Amino acid sequence: MRSDSRPTAGDSATFLIFGASGDLTARKLMPALFMLWAEGQLPAHYTIVGVARREKSDEAFRSEMYEAVSKHARGGAVSSEHWEKFASRLFYHRLEIDQPEGYGDFDARIHELESASGATSDPSTRIVYLATDPALFLPAVESLASAGMITPEGPRIVFEKPFGHDVKSSVALAQSLSSLLDESQIYRIDHYLGKETVQNILLFRFGNAIFEPLLNRNHVDNVQITVAESQGIERGRGGYYDNSGALRDVLQNHVLQLLCLIAMEPPAVFQANQIRDEKLKVLQSLQPGDPTEISKWAVAGQYVGGMVDGEAANGYRQEDRVARNSSRETFVSMEVRVDNWRWAGVPFYLRTGKRMPRRVSEIAIQFKLPPMHTFDSVECVGDQCGLVGTRANTLVFRIQPEESIVLSSNVKRPGYQYHLEKQDLEFSYPSGLAEAYERLLLDVLRGDSTLFTRSDELEAAWRFVQPVLDAWEQPAHEPEFYPVGKWGPSGSTQLLSRSGRQWRNP
Ligand code: BG6
Repeated sequence: MRSDSRPTAGDSATFLIFGASGDLTARKLMPALFMLWAEGQLPAHYTIVGVARREKSDEAFRSEMYEAVSKHARGGAVSSEHWEKFASRLFYHRLEIDQPEGYGDFDARIHELESASGATSDPSTRIVYLATDPALFLPAVESLASAGMITPEGPRIVFEKPFGHDVKSSVALAQSLSSLLDESQIYRIDHYLGKETVQNILLFRFGNAIFEPLLNRNHVDNVQITVAESQGIERGRGGYYDNSGALRDVLQNHVLQLLCLIAMEPPAVFQANQIRDEKLKVLQSLQPGDPTEISKWAVAGQYVGGMVDGEAANGYRQEDRVARNSSRETFVSMEVRVDNWRWAGVPFYLRTGKRMPRRVSEIAIQFKLPPMHTFDSVECVGDQCGLVGTRANTLVFRIQPEESIVLSSNVKRPGYQYHLEKQDLEFSYPSGLAEAYERLLLDVLRGDSTLFTRSDELEAAWRFVQPVLDAWEQPAHEPEFYPVGKWGPSGSTQLLSRSGRQWRNP
């Protein structure tokens, strides 16, 4: 595999952030843009315009953003002198996003700001970030088009998730957009792909000769992908979440993307389309269980209140803006197969949930046991040590909270017996790495769509989850309950235990 040179950004860029009053702009986008500026990654002639419905002056917007960046940017406090420099090119524009009438003035203002910054006023240097309610995606693009702000050269438009609510709405949205935008202008963001260890999956797999030959059905017993969160539903998100659930919110996108990266074949060249072709093949090879017996391979859970660290915690149905009788899942786990030459027969266990014991995202590849059981391993819990059979090796890509790769192996335990103990070979990244949004915004700036989801990938991911969505929308469906602070309901444990396996609970 050859890596080619990445595209580079030009010397002008205009970011138009739709949804500027929202949480995402404050917590992720503005801190990311500030960090890129601080690291000299923004073009010399940059302009950033926050766009939203509320009346607000540039000054008021700047001071809100200063507070947000001071709180959320990595590296902590931001000096006011530093901020002033960055914010001299930061503006606010009030716009009813779904009403085309305001776009003429909006366009005129952008031209004015661009020429004041010495930038080329040209759609190819513009980036529109739709951090809005998804219902505004299409009206925003239609309005930009009707104001003549879209040409084949630009802008690049970034879509936050959710991109559709199911196969039908996602395909309909993709079709409507395809008459207004070229696929190369569309950047569907999945922030998991911006995480350093997630990118490292491909580089580690295809940059070493010693691991890849083992990653197949001959050596791997099972693969476990976990995206666990300890938090519940954040304030203000209950309405969205209760209409969405864990399957749509995280499994359909982040978890399936991780699955693609761990299971895909090496692309012939390390370029956006070739990589996405290989990911698409994985999604197309996904073999769910029997659609008439979904409960045998997919488990829906919902957390109920209890005590966490000595404090009472709400159950899901008590969360703000959640229906008191909601049957929405806050946890999902499933067993799927990647039905291809490399992986046939290997179960992939996927799991994501809110209010689990800790925040951890990882991919664990569990290898087969050695062919003969020659030695026992010693395993200790506290002071109590006992003998267990030989333990399987695991290769774990830890995505968060720490970013590391850990290979566990068995070595002789020092002493007079022939006993094994587990030891880890570990590589970890230092803390303070660039945030996913920094990397992804920079890639949009460079016009590199490698880490963004293509429309056919997205459709394949929706098609895979659709039968489960349908089953769980039935009025009779009830999730299994699990107490806050646990690794999901018992059905999830049984998913593995019936084949003699168990989840790693990291
Ligand atoms: C988002 C989901 O896409 O990912 C959230 O909408 C979830 O519900 C978040 O909390 C998890 O991301 P991270 O990076 O914190 O693991």
